[in-house]
Amino acid sequence: MTWWREAVVYQIYPRSFCDTNGDGIGDLNGVRSKLAYLKDLGVDALWLSPIFPSPMRDFGYDVSDYTGIDPVFGTLSDFDDLVREAHERGIRVLLDWVANHTSSDHPWFVDSRSSTTSAHRDWYVWRDARPDGSLPNNWVRAWSEEAAWTWDETTGQYYLHCFLPSQPDLNWANVDVRSAMHETLRFWLDRGVDGFRMDVIHLLGKEIERDDPEELRVLSHTPLNDVAVTHDYLREIRSVLAAYEGDRVAVGEVYLLDPERVATYYGDNDELHLSFNFASLFTPWRANAWRDIIEKTESALGAVNAWPTWVLSNHDNARVATRLGGDLQRVRAALVLLLTLRGTPFLYAGDELGMEDAQIAPERVVDPGGRDGCRSPIPWTVSADHGWPGEPWLPFASRGDVMSVESQDSDESSMLNFTRRLLALRRGHVALVSGELVDLRVEGDVLSFDRVSDDSRLRVMVNFKDAPAMSARKSGRVLLTSASGSADGQLNANEVVVLELSK
Ligand code: NOJ
Repeated sequence: MTWWREAVVYQIYPRSFCDTNGDGIGDLNGVRSKLAYLKDLGVDALWLSPIFPSPMRDFGYDVSDYTGIDPVFGTLSDFDDLVREAHERGIRVLLDWVANHTSSDHPWFVDSRSSTTSAHRDWYVWRDARPDGSLPNNWVRAWSEEAAWTWDETTGQYYLHCFLPSQPDLNWANVDVRSAMHETLRFWLDRGVDGFRMDVIHLLGKEIERDDPEELRVLSHTPLNDVAVTHDYLREIRSVLAAYEGDRVAVGEVYLLDPERVATYYGDNDELHLSFNFASLFTPWRANAWRDIIEKTESALGAVNAWPTWVLSNHDNARVATRLGGDLQRVRAALVLLLTLRGTPFLYAGDELGMEDAQIAPERVVDPGGRDGCRSPIPWTVSADHGWPGEPWLPFASRGDVMSVESQDSDESSMLNFTRRLLALRRGHVALVSGELVDLRVEGDVLSFDRVSDDSRLRVMVNFKDAPAMSARKSGRVLLTSASGSADGQLNANEVVVLELSK
């Protein structure tokens, strides 16, 4: 098995992880200072949300230089130190490659917008108004009901931006754009990174002449863009990575909510190695709903021999603990699903603590997409500053003292120690890492499935109900439970168990 099929990937939102210089913003040296914590937690790879120079109008997803480090995060030499020390501990490092758009401050766009004949004019998507004076098409940009087009006075044309007007879309149909972007990959591959999470990568190819269906425009254009030529671009990107030793990985953010559509972006094992499967972020906490999404994922990806991924939280959506109403028993069950389903799990920093979103007062709102709550700083210590030497850029979530790493570390029954045991269990059982997933079923409110390898069979059972459930199938040696003391044959309210069955 390649490493990225076995790995547990931990997402770090660097601004909110750990600050070492007191400016209230997390930095690369902060990440480096927590490598021992991450090793002890048991993760195998880190994905860092963007750390490149940026005016931060979308907090780094608006890149103004693809081959540098924003000073707020540190320097290239800090980055090299981080990669070296992570590798020394056997932890891999993935960067976040934002290829669909740049910042409007990027020199390419500054030149592009300067005249219709500039060297970079065709590097972005410029269009005249339609003959009747209307917009080039009816696409809507993210986080608004506004058009994905902005009129530029200087040259009298519209430019396309699927996100903010300060995030103009690159024109991937232009071969020079593709070569320049491939070079940015090589820059980081040469520095030893193990791969990339690729931002909205399904957006690269576009059919500008096609309007979106009127009834779906509320979704914005991004989840509607599914165009054949993107697969050609992905094959080129894959071959850039393939020229390097060490199984460098491409993990795509394919923001299409149907696993069957997502599966096509793995190509014939010549496009993405992995793609996010966001359906789990939107699946209600019901046994049947989870069975359906597991079944759908297994069949869509299984059909093309593609390896699944699972995710519970990220920097764009409410945290799992918030979605589950702060019920930590349910969060434990959700973490067990994340780490025992077949596929590569992506664990968002702070979920190992059961963190909830912070409440953001109106005067503290900074994100144009309303996502500040899930980006609040990690509380490291019990003390009022939670280990942050300066006032952090966003407020802490509530109960930072009891939720802190320091407090949970010393409590055997804490979420943190539960997550550590869960990760260790996964590491110790080939069946959980690479075994087949079989016997998926729901009995009453209990979802269960087995993971099977040559020499072992493990059963995962989750009671989705707020009341005990009888389950005839609860027999076997208990390897992990979220409850303290459960009777045989019965699952406590919201209990999850992992059992070892005799094969
Ligand atoms: C998806 C990223 O996850 C999100 O944070 C960002 O705002 C958009 N892409 C635009 O880059």
